[in-house]
This record gives sequence, C-alpha cells and structure tokens, in this order.
Amino acid sequence: MRVRRCATVMFAPQERVEFSFESIASGGSGLQKHTEWIALIPHQDAETAVDAVEMEILGTISPSEWIEIDALKASHSPEAVDALLDKHLLVVEDSDADTRDRKLRARHWRPASAIMHYASRWRGIGAKQNNEDLSDTLGGQIADWLGPPPPPIRERVEAHVRMRLPREPASPFENLLRQRTTCREFDSARKLSLAQFAAMLFRVFGARAVDEPAPGVSLLKRNVPSAGGLHPTEAYLLVQNVDGIAPGLYHYHPIDHALEPIKAMSAEEAAATANHFVSSQSYLANAHVMVVLASRFERTFWRYRNHTKAYRALILDIGHLSQTLYLAATELGLGAFVTAAVNEVDIEQAFGLDPFEEGPLAVCGFGCRAG
Ligand SMILES: Cc1cc2nc3c(=O)[nH]c(=O)nc-3n(C[C@H](O)[C@H](O)[C@H](O)COP(=O)(O)O)c2cc1C
Repeated sequence: MRVRRCATVMFAPQERVEFSFESIASGGSGLQKHTEWIALIPHQDAETAVDAVEMEILGTISPSEWIEIDALKASHSPEAVDALLDKHLLVVEDSDADTRDRKLRARHWRPASAIMHYASRWRGIGAKQNNEDLSDTLGGQIADWLGPPPPPIRERVEAHVRMRLPREPASPFENLLRQRTTCREFDSARKLSLAQFAAMLFRVFGARAVDEPAPGVSLLKRNVPSAGGLHPTEAYLLVQNVDGIAPGLYHYHPIDHALEPIKAMSAEEAAATANHFVSSQSYLANAHVMVVLASRFERTFWRYRNHTKAYRALILDIGHLSQTLYLAATELGLGAFVTAAVNEVDIEQAFGLDPFEEGPLAVCGFGCRAG
C-alpha cells in the first residue's frame, strides 16, 4: 500500500474551554483550557485535531512521491502514521481520499483560498444555528450585546476642510438606484410572468456576445465585468411560482437563453427546499425564483493558476451579479434579495454539483412583492 501527503493542509492553534468539576473542587473557575492544533483539510471537508508528533511526521512526507506504508512505519511511530491515515492527511493511493485530493490538485487552488472556501460551507444549518434574528438585528438589541459599532464613515479631516461636490441631477438611473432595496416579503398568491422571468435572467446572466480571442478560448460578454472575461459564475435556479414553468430545479444557459431542467418538484417540495437553501430564513423562502450563484473554479483557475487573487475575483463576480439582479428587479417593479447565509453543501447535493468543480457562494431571489 502506497501513501503520500495530501496536497493542501493548514494548521491553526486553538484553545478549547471545557467545564471541569476538578477545577471547582480545587477552588478554580470551573473551566479547564486545552491548547491543540487543528488541521484544516479541504479535500476531506474536515477540521481535525492533530498532535505534535503527527505534525512533525507529516512535515517530512512528500506530497508528490508515493512511499510504501511499511517503510514509513519502520522509520516513524506506527500509531502516529495510523492516525494520519485515519485523518486522510496521509492519502492512500487509489482510495476515495486520493480521488478527492487529485481533484483539488487539478483545480490549481491557491492553498489559503482553498482552506477558506471549504472551511466556510454550511450543511443543515437552520434559523437557530444561523443565529441571525432579523428583528433583533434591525430592532436595536444588537448594540446591547456587541457594544456600539464603528462609525459609519471613516472621517479623515475636519468637516470644514471637506471639499463639497455638486449633487448629481436626477436621472432615470439615479431613480432606479434609489428604489433598490432588499425584499423580504413576496406575494405567493401571484405568479411571476414568463416575460419578467425571462427578462430577469437575460439582463443579469445572459450572454450578449461570445468572443473567441484565440482558437478554443471562448469568452462571454455579459452586463457585468468579470476577471479575464471568464465569467465563471453559473446560475442554478429553484423555480417556485412562474407562469408556465413547473416548480423545480433548473440551470440557465446564458448563450442559448434557455432553461436546462434538472429536477421536477411538487410545490411543497420546492418550498421546503427553498427554505433549507437559505438556512430557514422563511421571509426569503417564498421568493418566486431563487438563483444559486455558483462559481466554476476550473474556469478562472485555468488562467489564474495558484494565484493569490483568483478566489477574490470569484467573490467579486457574485457582487456584480447580485447588484445587477437587484437593479433589474427594481426596474421591473419586482422584489429581490441576496444572502450568503446558505447551506452550500445541501445546495450542491440538490443540483448534483461536484464541490471540487463548482460551488455556491451566494443565493439571490426575485419575485412579486407583497403589499
Ligand atoms: C453579502 C450579503 C449577505 C446578505 N445576507 C443576508 C441574509 O442572510 N439575510 C437577509 O435577509 N439579507 C441579507 N443581505 C441583505 C442585507 O441585509 C441588505 O442589503 C441590507 O440590510 C441593506 O438593505 P437594502 O439592501 O434594502 O439597502 C445580505 C446582503 C449581502 C450583500
């Protein structure tokens, strides 16, 4: 059996605090503190404690050359080697962990970015764990818990030194911007028209042109900017309430301006799935359409390999698309939202996305406003 070290791992020191009767009995605070190292292991989607011996052994093992496990155990503590195997920090050739590790290697992730991405995905998180009670946040109690926030503006000079600028004259675009707002009340009694649904998708995600700057290299022209013109973001849809479109999961094809059906759903199943996607934020869940913004890592990392800024570029694209979606909805008199509090792992499974190929970074929604 041959093994090698996994390609990407990082270690973080952590202090764990536990309740302890012994501490109370000896006059202490009742809390016992343990320090440990946590290995962040993106190819396993895991965070696991490791000891100093395991870390030291791992540091001596090549991530590129396979070595016989018996040879490794002859020169290191066999127990520590077994622990590294159990944690998949040592990867066995042709195992499932090897498949995942190879996929991660093939994507050309910058290691710190891979750690951040795979350590920030949620599965099965609901309103309780999400802990974002909207009425508390907006209703003022938040300052009682956290103290006052930093001021809204970072002022660099006294007010009298500021060079006042002319206010821009009113314009249709200015009016549109002013009307943009997050909608948290959708009217389930009304259906979104097919024309509005199609207009939203085309204006936000549609390809205006396809450019071929070199043989085999296709770049899209969309209404938003994108690093390298690569447009790695795909739109996966959960349709609940659109005239002429059955509830279910779809993928939007931006060049053909067409829907690719993925899974048909009953209205009840679609509603429950929508609620779960946005971590039980029920005020968002009945949006007529939800759009999962999923980045295709290989597309951007094909050009920006092992690049310090590549993951940031993916995230920036999500911001451009979500703001454009808000503005497109506003112009049509529709409501819109964006949220990053989403169950990425469950969304991947619902749409059949391989997390090493593409991954959701946010969910938007749009539909008819209530009231
Ligand atoms: C990255 C990001 C994450 C957000 N997450 C949530 C969310 O989880 N739930 C929600 O109701 N709104 C969410 N919002 C919307 C903001 O709460 C909203 O933009 C903000 O309150 C300002 O309101 P406005 O958009 O109406 O101007 C998010 C916005 C952004 C940009």
